[in-house]
Amino acid sequence: MSTIDLQALIPNNVGLNDNRQLQRALEHWQPAFLKWWEEMGPSDFNARDVYLRTAVGVDAGGWAQYGYTPMPDYRWGIFLADRQEGRKIGFGDFMGQDAWQDVPGEFRSTFRRLIVTQGDTEPASVEQQRLLGHTAPSLYDLRNLFQVNVEEGRHLWAMVYLLHAYFGRDGREEAEELLERHSGDPDKPRILGTFNEPMDNWLSFFMFTYFTDRDGKFQLKSLAESAFDPLSRTCQFMLTEEAHHMFVGETGVGRVIRRTLEVMKELDTDDWKKVREAGAIDLPTIQKFMNFWFSSSLDLFGSEASSNAANYFSNGIKGRPDETKFADHVETDTSMTIQVPDGKGGVKDETISVRNGINEVTRLEYVKDCNVGVTRWNMAVKRSGIPFEFKLPSIRFRRNVGAWAGLHTDPQGNPVTAAEFEAKKGEWLFSEDDLRFVKSLMQPVTQPGKMAAWIAPPDRGINAQPVEYEYVKL
Ligand SMILES: [Fe+2]
Ligand SMILES: [Fe+2]
Repeated sequence: MSTIDLQALIPNNVGLNDNRQLQRALEHWQPAFLKWWEEMGPSDFNARDVYLRTAVGVDAGGWAQYGYTPMPDYRWGIFLADRQEGRKIGFGDFMGQDAWQDVPGEFRSTFRRLIVTQGDTEPASVEQQRLLGHTAPSLYDLRNLFQVNVEEGRHLWAMVYLLHAYFGRDGREEAEELLERHSGDPDKPRILGTFNEPMDNWLSFFMFTYFTDRDGKFQLKSLAESAFDPLSRTCQFMLTEEAHHMFVGETGVGRVIRRTLEVMKELDTDDWKKVREAGAIDLPTIQKFMNFWFSSSLDLFGSEASSNAANYFSNGIKGRPDETKFADHVETDTSMTIQVPDGKGGVKDETISVRNGINEVTRLEYVKDCNVGVTRWNMAVKRSGIPFEFKLPSIRFRRNVGAWAGLHTDPQGNPVTAAEFEAKKGEWLFSEDDLRFVKSLMQPVTQPGKMAAWIAPPDRGINAQPVEYEYVKL
């Protein structure tokens, strides 16, 4: 097992103390990170004590500690899952060879780009969520927001460590630029579209943590398969923290739905206007937010057919999520079918090699995983006896990347004309009015245990504390 140094300026289990040059470089980056946190992180709450979980090791049993800490004092550390002696490459053309402890020269720029792209999403989401603390529906939710934020900060540290440790001067420059691009900045935006979308309400936050953090889960799972062992081990440990982010999303959306169902029962109505008047979010509006964030997150997987993805797979750079689940780890001559536009307003099948289709394979695994929560939400609707069903839209709906980019379909994925889309858009995606309504509900609730009227309380608190625990000392 690795030795954990918690006393160091940068807590770590990578033996930073034995590598003075690397340690100095990271200690030099640290003040820039803290400055970024002050300027771009959660606004106005930096002096408050927050009940936070801090990673202190990588042991499955006891990897985290809980306690009050002001966010700028959070111990952002570098933790890699323990090294597996004799680990072999699990897929692609180098399958069965020893995993790499260093980056092979010919794949250096590819790995750097992948690490930078992953790294860029971490601070981006913190920037997107910067103002949400002012409108939290409860102290419990406020704490969860900040927990997600500090952990995304730690994920940035994880990627910056790799850049500094394995990519020399280029890596150090990339690490600086990770703090210079900003979400939604017209001149220097974040790399991926979803991470430049504004996030000005908590329904979006819950959808984002459910759908977009789950994209993160699948990217991390694919990178955890990498032949480059330090990247694999870094991502394995990040997944441990990521699980909580998706929990926040799933339970958050679930609680919004539960509250709406209660209101509908109380008023004995399915009239969305009455539901809104009672201060809850009507089910069709929740569906529209789902359509938006799900389709936006689908783009993050890239094009259906991609020679880059094939190159990553062939060379052991990035695999598929849970590679061991697949029967064939090499996919030399295998093919698969994808659906593409037929150019005449319809859909046709196209056969591509599995290697070219890795993005689509991963996307479909992601969709399956997204549906688990949707099924659970629908069970709550069913139990209430209200005739409504949430449904994820087709993977062809509202895409901006890949074969369906810029083409119009209905949520079932049937191609429609631009005029038809325009006419129906208000039923499928939230309008300015819908957004204004949701934003009007965003009033802070700061009394311990109390919830805003549009959301039900959680089933339990954090780390066995009661729901009414003072999770943030305001
Ligand atoms: Fe993350
Ligand atoms: Fe996350």
